[in-house]
This record gives sequence, structure tokens and C-alpha cells, in this order.
Amino acid sequence: MSTISIEKFIEDIPKTELHLHIEGTFEPELMFKIAKRNHKQIKYATVDELKSAYSFNNLQEFLDIYYAGANVLIEEEDFYELTWAYLTKVHSQNVVHVEIFFDPQTHTDRGISFDTVIKGIYRALEDGKEKLGITYKLIMSFLRHLDEASAFNTLEQALPYKEWISGVGLDSSEVGNPPSKFERVFAKARDEGFITVAHAGEEGPAEYIWEAINLLKVTRIDHGNRCLDDPELVKQLADTQIPLTLCPLSNLELNVIHDLRDYPLIEMLDKNLLVTLNSDDPAYFGGYMNENYLEVAKALQLSKRQITDLVKNSFKASWLSDQEKENKMTQIETYFENNL
Ligand code: ADE
Ligand code: ZN
Repeated sequence: MSTISIEKFIEDIPKTELHLHIEGTFEPELMFKIAKRNHKQIKYATVDELKSAYSFNNLQEFLDIYYAGANVLIEEEDFYELTWAYLTKVHSQNVVHVEIFFDPQTHTDRGISFDTVIKGIYRALEDGKEKLGITYKLIMSFLRHLDEASAFNTLEQALPYKEWISGVGLDSSEVGNPPSKFERVFAKARDEGFITVAHAGEEGPAEYIWEAINLLKVTRIDHGNRCLDDPELVKQLADTQIPLTLCPLSNLELNVIHDLRDYPLIEMLDKNLLVTLNSDDPAYFGGYMNENYLEVAKALQLSKRQITDLVKNSFKASWLSDQEKENKMTQIETYFENNL
């Protein structure tokens, strides 16, 4: 039996990521390269200048920069390269399964066709499966600051690609854009066979989490931090085991929390919530999966047992088949036993 450090334990354990915006993986170096190729201007002269703009007081300040960055993505090849860069990065971190968001309206609203976006992303995901062994699910996320008609229109455009898209989600500016705004769109999406998830309780109130569950019939809540304000809701989440996809470094960068030592992870685990760790927008928040695990592990002094259980939670919360989940549980438990 070997003794390995917590760092190495986190690096080597096979992981899955359930809350990741592909547009949020756009590293500055790649952004400049693609901008040049497409003859698009970036507001900042250098990579370093751009990086120094990555200081956010809240979600909206981040979103403004994130949407501006996405503006340079024009061709199918750009979406391929973006997705491929993410996959190779997380492959180096032993991520073996990903369930990732893309935001079509970020692109269709500026005249890029839905087909261009999805074909580039899909081709990279298929290559990732074949060449890197990373399995995947794709989730189409609606921008909640836009109206219902735009979401319906986006759903319509997605229907020819139903085989490529497993679920729909809801993201962007939360406060003032409650899940109820999209109740009818989500009903239609479920009728068409999509699984549903939604960002809720990141900046918005616990009430939005209730709405996501009761009106949008979500199978997972993205973030969900604010559930802790409502004991009834915590009980409901514990009873139903609806998973929460937490994003620690994102929460820190967007001032949802102020210090990782106060991260409510242990409190959530003690309350029997099915919590998972994810990276959200790693190019903007200073870390991919391993960094998220490691920073939390250090701040909260997590044990190898706790880290293993968090990784198992993620596979449990994934959309893999029961058989695939069973296999992962065994594999991860074996990893734990061999690396105490
Ligand atoms: N879009 C990309 N990242 C997001 C986040 N953390 N919350 C809401 N919308 C987002
Ligand atoms: Zn997110």
C-alpha cells in the first residue's frame, strides 16, 4: 500500500465534472489566437491586460466579460478548438466523464448559426470520447436574462440535434429572472425528452430553488448555495437527493462566499445533501477540477475519505446509466483502498 499526498490523491482519482460552461473555458491565449484569425478586436491589448480585468464583485460583472470574450468565436472550428482545449486540459487532470453546458443564445444573438456552434462542440466531444476516453453529456442552457420567446426559438433550433443534447439548463443573470419565467419552455423541453437542470440559489433566493424543483422539474440544482436559508428546502433536497453542483472557486471569485474556510460543504454533507464539486468557468476563476478540489480540501482539511465520497457523489449525480455508475463506484472505492 502506498502513502500519497492529498494533492496527488486528488490529481489521480478519476473524476467527473457536472457544472461547466464551455464558453467559460476560453483561456486568454486561445482567445487572442482566435480573435486574430477572425479579425476581431479584443478590448485589451495583451493577455496580461485581459487577465488583470478578471476581478469581479458579482455575477453580472463576470457575465459582462464572459459574453465579450465569446464574441470572437465565429467558425465551427473555433467551437471545436475551444471544446478540444477543455477536454485535453481535464484529461490531464484525470476527468473521465463530463456533462457540459453550452449557451447557444450567446452566439445566435450575434448572428452565428446554431448549427455552427453545436457542430464544432459535438465534433470535439466525439473526438474526446474516441481519443481521450472521456464520455460526455451535452446540456443546452437558456439565458435567463432573455425572454421566453427567445428560449422557445432556441429550443426549436435544437430539435434537429436532439440526439446530441441530453438536457436543458438555465443560466446567466439570476436575480429578477426566476425559474417561473421559463416554466412553459421547460415543459416543452421535457415533452421532447430533455432532462432538466437550472442554476438557482447562486445569488438568487431559496424561493428560486423551490421554483426550479416544482415548476421546471429539475433533476439537479446548479449551485444551490442559498438553500441553507430555508430548512424546509434543505429537508426536501435531502429527502429527494436532488444533487447540488457546487463551484467553490467560482463562488469565491463572484463573492457568493468570502473565504473558502467558510465554505458550507461540511454543513451540507452533515445535512445529507448530495453535493458535488465543479469548476463552472475555469478560465475565469483560476482553476479546473483539481484546483477546486484541492483548495477546498486545504481550506476545510478534508480527508481522503471525504474526497472519495465527494467524487462518488458526482458519479451518482451524473446521467450515466446505473451500470456505469456501479462500475465507477467500484473503481473509485478500489482507488481509495489502494491509496490511503
Ligand atoms: N454563466 C456562466 N457561468 C455562470 C454562473 N456561474 N452563473 C450563472 N450563469 C453563468
Ligand atoms: Zn454555472
